[in-house]
Amino acid sequence: MELKIIGGTVVTAEKSFRADVGIEDGKITRIATSLADQPGETIDATGQYILPGGIDVHTHFELPFGGTVSPDDFFTGTVAAACGGTTTVLDFAVQSKGQGLKEGLESWQEKARDKAVIDYGFHMAITDFNRQVVDDMEAMMESGVTSFKLFMAYKNIFMVDDETLFRSFLKAKELGGLVMVHAENGGLIDLLTNKLLAEGKTQPMYHALSRPPELEEEATSRAIILARLAEAPLYVVHLSYRGAMRRVKKARANQQPVLAETCPHYLMLSIENYSEPDFAGAKYVMSPPLRGKHNQAYLWKNLAEGHLQVVSSDHCSFNLKGQKDLGRDDFSRIPNGVPGVETRLFILYSEGVRHKKITLERLVDVWATSPAKIFGLYPQKGVIAEGSDADLVIFNPNKKFVLQSAKLHQNVDYCPYEGLEVKGAISRVLSRGKVIVKENSFSGRRGAGQFLRRLKFKPRLESTGVIA
Ligand code: URP
Ligand code: ZN
Ligand code: ZN
Repeated sequence: MELKIIGGTVVTAEKSFRADVGIEDGKITRIATSLADQPGETIDATGQYILPGGIDVHTHFELPFGGTVSPDDFFTGTVAAACGGTTTVLDFAVQSKGQGLKEGLESWQEKARDKAVIDYGFHMAITDFNRQVVDDMEAMMESGVTSFKLFMAYKNIFMVDDETLFRSFLKAKELGGLVMVHAENGGLIDLLTNKLLAEGKTQPMYHALSRPPELEEEATSRAIILARLAEAPLYVVHLSYRGAMRRVKKARANQQPVLAETCPHYLMLSIENYSEPDFAGAKYVMSPPLRGKHNQAYLWKNLAEGHLQVVSSDHCSFNLKGQKDLGRDDFSRIPNGVPGVETRLFILYSEGVRHKKITLERLVDVWATSPAKIFGLYPQKGVIAEGSDADLVIFNPNKKFVLQSAKLHQNVDYCPYEGLEVKGAISRVLSRGKVIVKENSFSGRRGAGQFLRRLKFKPRLESTGVIA
């Protein structure tokens, strides 16, 4: 045995139990009560949890947006991910208008190659549906890119019309792909934005007021109806609002295969953050925007009860100085996005598990296991089982620390949770059996991450409650 982790408590989406974990050739080879007498290097995890490495299915590294580019590339972004316990990311390759999907994928493969320090895959964002796209969707599936994102918002940038969305559902259904939707009504947001700006309302708070929650609910409902007519599965990204949640729950109760994710910022922050002085509200300009505080408890509850299946970061970092401040006189010019790839586990554990909003097993489910199942990576990833990749986090539940931008590895000049004391810290992170993080220090290798060819969507997942 090359390496064994002894004395820890293994946590899966179903149960927690005392066990030692043996590793060889990057895989988990043994899970047993005691491996202490086996040969090989030893890591002592006494008093600590052994969690599956996180799978963050929603990141944007090096994304061109609003005349600038998100500064975390596939090196800094994946180093930050690793230091936060994430060992797999799925990023969004984007089709440029007038081009096919293949060019978009090649461009993102180029960004990631030789840079990613952990394993990675892509979703394909369709922004311009044409004859070529239909063929390219097949090519994407063959390349292991088995999910497609469509934006119902960002008019004149990424937004697609209902016909395009519907065609994508039909094609994805035929191919065994999964359509992911950014559900906000982009036409009305554009209208409200122009109205507010014409009235001289330019501050970050108006970003939220230009995107009322009802426009998320409306778009979520529309996406659900179109998916139902196409008899296709649907995954709603970054759900922020209780009204949208209710629509998802209703569809699921009617046996429709609808899945949804939320993000730590919607569980932790609220519309009040936009009022922070000196343009600091710009830090929280992301879409959908932060909502009224009462939504937080509702989202936690739905996470606990399994109505939300995934917590992703939607990491899309932009510096406050030099990027967010492009919109100092016009909120619509503030690049949309917030950092979070490094802090997802700390928020889920400290705020979720310790405050008894979710169980530890539920944390593992929304952090790794369900993302792996939904996005065709299971059982290679997302679980601690013999034969799975040895992507593991050794987590000390008793160590406290304070989230501070200066101590994080994300390449951005702020942390939305600056000053928050969290309990629960990472001792080690292993990627395919190699220690790549030790006590907040990265020791992995640039370019060591491998591209993951994902499987087709399987719409019969007991744990996600989908019966199709
Ligand atoms: O504000 C956000 N969420 N930026 C990233 C792009 C997206 O909509 O996911
Ligand atoms: Zn989005
Ligand atoms: Zn996003």
